[in-house]
Amino acid sequence: MRTQVGIVGAGPAGLVLAHLLHRRGIDSVVLERQSREHIERRIRAGVLEHGTVDLLTEVGLADRLHRERMVHRGLEVLYDGVGHRIPLTDLTGRELTIYGQHELVKDMVAARLETGRPLLFEAPATGGAELAGPRPVVHFEYEGRSRTLECDLIAGCDGFHGVCRPAIPTTELTVYEHDYPYAWLGILAQAPPSSDELIYAQHERGFALHSMRTPKITRLYLQVAPDEDLAGWPDERVWAELRTRLDRHDPAWHLSEGPVLDKAVTALRSVVTAPMQYGRLFLAGDAAHIVPATGAKGLNLAVADVAVLAAAIEDWYGTGNTALLDAYSRTCLARVWQVQHFSWWMTSTLHRSPDGDPFSRQLQRAALHQLTGSRAAARAFAENYVGLPLVVPGSAGDPLTPAPIGGTSHDPP
Ligand code: FAD
Ligand code: DHB
Repeated sequence: MRTQVGIVGAGPAGLVLAHLLHRRGIDSVVLERQSREHIERRIRAGVLEHGTVDLLTEVGLADRLHRERMVHRGLEVLYDGVGHRIPLTDLTGRELTIYGQHELVKDMVAARLETGRPLLFEAPATGGAELAGPRPVVHFEYEGRSRTLECDLIAGCDGFHGVCRPAIPTTELTVYEHDYPYAWLGILAQAPPSSDELIYAQHERGFALHSMRTPKITRLYLQVAPDEDLAGWPDERVWAELRTRLDRHDPAWHLSEGPVLDKAVTALRSVVTAPMQYGRLFLAGDAAHIVPATGAKGLNLAVADVAVLAAAIEDWYGTGNTALLDAYSRTCLARVWQVQHFSWWMTSTLHRSPDGDPFSRQLQRAALHQLTGSRAAARAFAENYVGLPLVVPGSAGDPLTPAPIGGTSHDPP
């Protein structure tokens, strides 16, 4: 097989990229290791930034999303048994969308299949140096046979455990990593949300998060140990712990409960791979970086990467100039590090440190007091939470490296 852009992985990064390229008249082949049923059922993210929704809307991927989504204009931070609302929309003019990642994946798979262009399921790329070579080739398995896909460029959208990043010589990459001493146990429950908005709770027994998917389905998370065994968490224990950590000094508060539809433990970690490009191989989304879940940023970062990549690829085919492709990694990493910082801050501020260090605990309290007591602090938080502006290379201005607000020492007085 031959195509212009070989896309490895049909998660949000790969599917959005395929769609953006198709709209620009650029051909691609998408290879996905799993079955269609598997990726359409995988329960993951649920919070979409304003800019992510704008992009999906602009390119015709958001019809069902607009019919079924929940729009959120604030969230609650709960500590010491008291909830504090952060009015995100008042502070930024932007709002958030709650819509399950697997629903978005369903919409994007349907849109791709409608174009008639290839999206092959159960087609794992097998890796190897040719992925990162001067004449890119993807080797993959399909219908019991080994096959090859020749391309002009490869987009490694194959997530954290994919084959693209390992194809780049380790001497060419710097990998920045940070592990957190806790994980999340997440459940999806058939129970109406207990609140109209998300609740991020800091509690002496550990962090808890109340989120949702629809007016009938709640999504809840608990901080647990990194090596936590799910077998030790029968449903009743999960609910008891959620009741404790989400409790507040309000007799009217009540956590609604129902059958548990899904239960899993997810590690929290930060990883950044730099650069995100080697020759004609471009990494995007989780293949290049992981953020801890607390800021709800992973899916949104994946979409931000491929918006930059699609524009750069289009420019290269149109002009033969590699300037935007060369700038891909730099452009994306500016956002990635800002998001990484925000996610690290939220994670460190809201989770209980396993060693119970009293100094860190007081710093957390100071941070929460400032967040919930200062409009300026709340606004900085809200700007990050609703999402930094999407940057497309070649467009005017660069909001990720703005002019310093106080000027610089080079500016005339
Ligand atoms: P993936 O979605 O991982 O897709 C990669 C694809 O590549 C997969 O389908 C995989 O099967 C395929 N693949 C792998 N290897 C191969 C191969 N060799 N050949 C072919 N295909 C291959 N993010 C948010 O923005 N908001 C949230 O609220 C949020 N909450 C989360 C909650 C949880 C519990 C978890 C686990 C994650 C959450 N995230 C959230 C993160 C978000 O889900 C990911 O960042 C997002 O899926 C990244 O998209 P991606 O396309 O880069 O990677
Ligand atoms: C959800 C996940 C997150 O990581 C988060 O910060 C907020 C909500 C969710 O799955 O709904």
